[in-house]
Amino acid sequence: MTTTIEPELLQLSADQLDAYWMPFTANRQFKSSPRLVVKAEGMYYTTHDGRRILDGFAGLWCCNAGHCRKPITEAIQKQAATMDYAPAFQMSHPLAFELANRIVALAPGALKHVFFCNSGSEAVDSALKIALAWHRVSGRGERIRLIGRERAYHGVGFGGISVGGIAANRKMFGAMLAGVDHLPHTHNLEKNAFSRGQPVWGAQLADELERLVALHDASTIAAVIVEPMAGSTGVLIPPQGYLQRLRDITRKHGILLIFDEVISAFGRLGTSFGADLFGVEPDMITFAKGVTSGTVPMGGVIVSSDIYQAFMAGAKGTIELFHGYTYSAHPLACAAGIAALQLYEQEQLFQRAAQMAAPFEDALHSLKGTRHVIDIRTIGLVGAVELQSRPGAVGARGFEAYLRAYEKGVLVRQTGDILAFAPALIIEKAQIDQIVATVREVLNTLD
Ligand SMILES: Cc1ncc(COP(=O)(O)O)c(C=O)c1O
Repeated sequence: MTTTIEPELLQLSADQLDAYWMPFTANRQFKSSPRLVVKAEGMYYTTHDGRRILDGFAGLWCCNAGHCRKPITEAIQKQAATMDYAPAFQMSHPLAFELANRIVALAPGALKHVFFCNSGSEAVDSALKIALAWHRVSGRGERIRLIGRERAYHGVGFGGISVGGIAANRKMFGAMLAGVDHLPHTHNLEKNAFSRGQPVWGAQLADELERLVALHDASTIAAVIVEPMAGSTGVLIPPQGYLQRLRDITRKHGILLIFDEVISAFGRLGTSFGADLFGVEPDMITFAKGVTSGTVPMGGVIVSSDIYQAFMAGAKGTIELFHGYTYSAHPLACAAGIAALQLYEQEQLFQRAAQMAAPFEDALHSLKGTRHVIDIRTIGLVGAVELQSRPGAVGARGFEAYLRAYEKGVLVRQTGDILAFAPALIIEKAQIDQIVATVREVLNTLD
């Protein structure tokens, strides 16, 4: 395999670059100076011009086992040559059941059934639909409201942006789903700046749910969805006791609690799921990304036995849930998922993430006092460094920092003026140090 891109691809004309409308990307900026990667191995990408980039972000929160790990790539290759596709409706294939069982074995408590889809966005929309349908099949069809949270990211489907809490992702796209309300977010620099792990202040923010229940009445509310650790809006870590309070209040009022674990599942926090680390069991967990270590698109929802069994009550031979995707449990994704979970287990990567969390935390917090830094927060192998915004130009400093780090051979993620870090679980101490040293250098030379 070559490590450089074919010469003709390097000479893409402006029109050819424009053929691809890139997602969540400053297209014109990118196309004026493309950042193309052509190869990946372990902790590193190789760029089209042959530079090695240390990946501080596991691709996009997903390649938890590191890049191009042989056991996973070989399983995918083998499956592609054995059976490319199996119909997903009224038929299936053995790997789908094997993977579902492996996921269920890792999942907390009563979460015993998996519904497969192809992305985090689909997983969220599936979970919201299952919540509404569960109440309906249980004789509570008036429970139609969904509660999300400010600063939440739940993907880009209409369900996900409706319960999500990011203005830029919502304002262009009409009126959203009806009947959605939002909890306040938990981010507070005055109280919690430079926290390590879960911040102390903020459990009472969960009581806002009682206010929404008083406003709408519990009998109209189907579900509350939160990321146990909100990743995409800048690593917002739940205050101590907050998730437990949400669980208590939802249970008290017969409201389902959904954890969107698209980022926090599969070792990112040093446990199988965020639910394990925080000691709170929701009624559903959405996942994606790490389930295949980012190699083949896959997502899913893990549901409790109560939910699954409620659907299994009607006449046999009828379809219980009118929902699914052509590529639900695609054979390549299942092969990749099984191999990824096996690799996580063989190499004890979730435990490794838990062990590396302390050196990762220390290294990142050593940036305290560096120019522009107004907060640092860490949990498991996730961290964020928040920068002071330039007056009137929110996000500009963060974007420049991201670009400069990339030029210096380190990939991080930028959201607004927050730099986020989520390396593969195989990261070594020296690589953590390289990431932090690069960020320090970048920040010290940045306006
Ligand atoms: C918590 C959460 N939910 C949903 C999504 C959407 O996933 P996808 O981009 O695979 O649709 C993401 C993506 O980062 C996420 O972080």
